[in-house]
Amino acid sequence: MRLDKLLTNLGVASRSGCKEILKAGRVKVNGETKKDGAWAVPEDAKVFLDGKQLDTRLSRHLMLHKPAGVLTAREDNKQKTVMDLLPGAYHALGCMPVGRLDKDTTGILILTTDGELAHRLIAPQRHVDKVYEASVEGALDESDVIAFEKGIPLKDFTAMPAKLEILSPEKGRVTVQEGKYHQVKRMFGARGKPVVALHRLSFGPLQLDEGLLPGEYRELTKEEEAALYRAAAMEK
Ligand code: URA
Repeated sequence: MRLDKLLTNLGVASRSGCKEILKAGRVKVNGETKKDGAWAVPEDAKVFLDGKQLDTRLSRHLMLHKPAGVLTAREDNKQKTVMDLLPGAYHALGCMPVGRLDKDTTGILILTTDGELAHRLIAPQRHVDKVYEASVEGALDESDVIAFEKGIPLKDFTAMPAKLEILSPEKGRVTVQEGKYHQVKRMFGARGKPVVALHRLSFGPLQLDEGLLPGEYRELTKEEEAALYRAAAMEK
């Protein structure tokens, strides 16, 4: 990739800003000052800006502990989004959320720069397990477990069979494979037990890192990244 494009994609500055930075001799690659933006950067090159090494990976995958009160969207004119919880470099790299959690839902949200990966992970035919803990009004009982297992009829579709474990009368852990709009809330709602709080514990092979406080994120480990690509039946 051209050096100026790499710097722009990494969010160093705008295209013209990067040109200026290069002209000023502020960029060194493998120990040599490079001023030519068109120069092709070799794979694994060590790129420094003002003496500080840049992380040149263009592909990134994150786990965010989504807090309540933020939208799952790339941007919004009025409301805070999950992207506002990440440093600008991730915006420049084109990071996007995989699927959607409601504004008041908390828990694990994956973000990636790989659009194909995101697309495949949320495709209904992919059947990626998502595990939620739901606090409800009313008391859950065995009839709910059976109804979830059979598939709950909703207004516009019948939900696929889901596993419900009762943790306490007001709390259930549910595993679903679909991800339709308000799906989990609608399933409990159809049983007359409206959800008052919803938290996602896992997405496919990945569990929420308990060390992450609401609003915090971290990059996935190599193993987690590989597991996610496997879940999407994709080669890395
Ligand atoms: N189901 C819901 O109802 N809401 C979410 O945020 C996720 C799944």
